[in-house]
Amino acid sequence: MNLKEIYLSVLKVNQRTTGDLMYTLPSSSVYPCQWLWDSCFHAIIYTKFEEFDRAKDEIRSLLAGQWENGMVPHMIYWQREARHICNWGTDKKTSSITQPPMIAYAVERIFEATGDKNFVKEVFDKLDNYYKWLHRERSFNDLLFVIHPWETGEDDFVAWDDVYGLKEQMPSKDVLKKIKLEILRQYVQTGLNPKTFVEKDVFSIKCLLFNTVYLKNLRSMLHLAEEIGSKETKHYNATLSKTIVSFEKELLDQKTGLYSSAYNHGKEQLADSSETSSVFLPLFAGIPTKQNAEKLVKEHLLDEDRFWTRYPVPTVATDHSSFQPDRYWRGSTWININWFIYKGLIDYGFDDTAKELKEKSFDLVERSGFCEYFNPIDGTGYGPKDFCWSGLIFDM
Ligand code: GLC
Repeated sequence: MNLKEIYLSVLKVNQRTTGDLMYTLPSSSVYPCQWLWDSCFHAIIYTKFEEFDRAKDEIRSLLAGQWENGMVPHMIYWQREARHICNWGTDKKTSSITQPPMIAYAVERIFEATGDKNFVKEVFDKLDNYYKWLHRERSFNDLLFVIHPWETGEDDFVAWDDVYGLKEQMPSKDVLKKIKLEILRQYVQTGLNPKTFVEKDVFSIKCLLFNTVYLKNLRSMLHLAEEIGSKETKHYNATLSKTIVSFEKELLDQKTGLYSSAYNHGKEQLADSSETSSVFLPLFAGIPTKQNAEKLVKEHLLDEDRFWTRYPVPTVATDHSSFQPDRYWRGSTWININWFIYKGLIDYGFDDTAKELKEKSFDLVERSGFCEYFNPIDGTGYGPKDFCWSGLIFDM
């Protein structure tokens, strides 16, 4: 079997149907529910394979889990009890937090490939409710804050250690799990009120990845609104402009030209964040100036002693004191992060670097299979071997 055939069999194993809804699990062996940004990646991959109905169904099922207030939960437990790992503080069959808001971009990709305006019209109001919920409930100065590490999508990220006040450089999986469950417990205690929770100062971060994805998706919302002649065009134009200004003001260190996440309502930057792969993500949303992009790529991404390993891009620079090549979000390479960076490189005209990243990502999957994450030094694969978003290599 060639790589694509192997991948198609991975998809098949993970496809599920509930009533008339169809969705794809991230990995049936480890992640038996529907996840927000995973489904967006799946929709992009299906679009690439011209499986447009599947792509649309992935979005439809995701939006079927949307709450009345507009939130799209990060997990939907279609076929099981929502309380199996923790108490989400809700009777719904979903989690009570969200994840990087990739939905508008996925819908835009489907639209670009199919020209299907009816599909855009079908989902537009739901998307509009979601992005307005994010802005209403989760923004300070037009940038979004997340209230749980699981919302960042980068669950055990080194850059969050500072926020927890962790002294040890290499905390165990169990220590981090306890912290995450405690943060959730405290959120549930507020009756799921993000503003009250932020006042408690437990965990609220203007996450670089989350805001990059948000900004890119505001561009997609603007595009979709224009395509269907929606009156919301004005709203998305204005929101986008304000978000770009805040992004540059709060997340860019003018001295170094590097971006980072921020905490304490955006007043303080998280130093470690610029030592991670997130530093390259703003390229995906077209934020850095040409000059800053050049610096990011030449001085940082291509630095063989930090990021440009045999199997890039490590989630933490290899010379960082917390770097662990085999740990979940603490040094390992993830295909979705490579995909974000690849898209950004192409948009900025770094074609050769993009090509190299694509080849190295293919090497990784050819060598180790469609694993969840990989060792950036020797390419060993970790986590389940049937992990769907690693198929993003086909969209590189
Ligand atoms: C892990 C990842 C998260 C992903 C989920 C399902 O929790 O950190 O980003 O969405 O698994 O794949």
